[in-house]
Amino acid sequence: MAKAWSDRFEKGLNPAIKRFNASIFFDINLLQEDLDGSIAHAQMLGDCGVITKEETKKLIEGLEKIRTESSDGLFQVGVDDEDVHFAVERRLIEILGSVAKKLHTGRSRNDQVGTDLRLWLRHRIDELDQQLKRFQMALLSQAQNHIYTVIPGYTHLQRAQPISLSHHLLAYVEMIQRDRERFIDVRKRVNISPLGAAALAGTSIPINRRQTAKALGFSEIYLNSLDAVSDRDFAVEFTAAVSLVMTHLSRLSEEVILWASEEFAFVRLSDRCATGSSLMPQKKNPDVPELVRGKCGRVYGHLQGLLTMIKGLPLSYNKDFQEDKEAIFDTVFTVRASLEAMSILIEEGLEFCPERMKIAVEADFSNATDVADYLVAKGVPFREAYQKVGRVVKESLEQGILLKDLSIGEWREIHPAIDEDIFEKIAPKQVIASRISEGGTGFERVQEQLVSWKRRIDF
Ligand code: ARG
Repeated sequence: MAKAWSDRFEKGLNPAIKRFNASIFFDINLLQEDLDGSIAHAQMLGDCGVITKEETKKLIEGLEKIRTESSDGLFQVGVDDEDVHFAVERRLIEILGSVAKKLHTGRSRNDQVGTDLRLWLRHRIDELDQQLKRFQMALLSQAQNHIYTVIPGYTHLQRAQPISLSHHLLAYVEMIQRDRERFIDVRKRVNISPLGAAALAGTSIPINRRQTAKALGFSEIYLNSLDAVSDRDFAVEFTAAVSLVMTHLSRLSEEVILWASEEFAFVRLSDRCATGSSLMPQKKNPDVPELVRGKCGRVYGHLQGLLTMIKGLPLSYNKDFQEDKEAIFDTVFTVRASLEAMSILIEEGLEFCPERMKIAVEADFSNATDVADYLVAKGVPFREAYQKVGRVVKESLEQGILLKDLSIGEWREIHPAIDEDIFEKIAPKQVIASRISEGGTGFERVQEQLVSWKRRIDF
């Protein structure tokens, strides 16, 4: 195989160093984008008169042939290729002979790899948006079924106030919407072309950067060639945005894991999404949410890794950047697999147990705020009402009773303004229904939210 380096080099690389230096085993992921970038570059070189139209035609045919070979499983690469860019160039020379040696005119692997990575990431961001939408739709379907299902709402993981299960699920729809918006924003900065910045300083060859940018669907070009080849901010931003997706998935995972425990028993896991134990025959384990929760760590790790990799680099390109690829690829593969698994879990892996949640909601003091609010409506200052109800809770706990067990006589002793309607006011369904402030869990509000979400994400 012809060595890639110029004639300055006399001796071949030490084999271990060759392997250490190579990125071909992972950057082969960029093959399609590398071909797209090269085709746009070849076209532009022809249009600018740097090479002839005939040469352009040959280069493009050769590049398309490599694409076909790759889809037929016939494009072989190895450690001698070093990276995907050299692999394509080597194969092109094998196919076309010396005309192939004109392709790299006015370009460097530094702007080339930046181009490939951005094109690859842009595709993946668009796919991710579809996956995030599917996940939202899964949550919305469940929310639709559970508007009137009551579940304890928690703060500090202590029962606080009853809420609609639908309201709880819609909170995740909101989070995922923010994730989608973040990706739209990140995509703007991914979608800028570094191609034509060459190694670092631009080129004396009369190229047209705007033409290649347009052909590749970039919305702008980098205006500083040094920045073009050494910017990896977009990789950090992308990984940060994915980290938040993983955070959201992990929080829901943690809830599902708790809910599926016998202590809560708010959901049953369907056989399609749960696993057994090799030893304990009675076990049904929530492996899916546990894995998603666990996978967060590696994505956060990649974010930290990228930031650390970049922070000490002098301008412009440094080989350290080669380390960005595995981080970005693994981030994408991890979030993709996690989103798919969590969507399936929500779609067909959970059976909520409304009876259990109802029992939980009825067996606590999570309607205490409503007694205070009731007194406020009768003109009692809130802090005074709060103290009074606190005392009632304390005494009820001592007697082993709940607020609903107090007689009207006992209520009147607490405050003469209390009427028979107190019993209805503190029933869980009524407690939920009454919270009609905007964004609250009141059933009417939840209904409105569902309608508006379905419209927003064209369900
Ligand atoms: N494989 C390299 C990377 O991933 C491609 C660019 C190499 N450029 C260079 N001047 N050595 O960054």
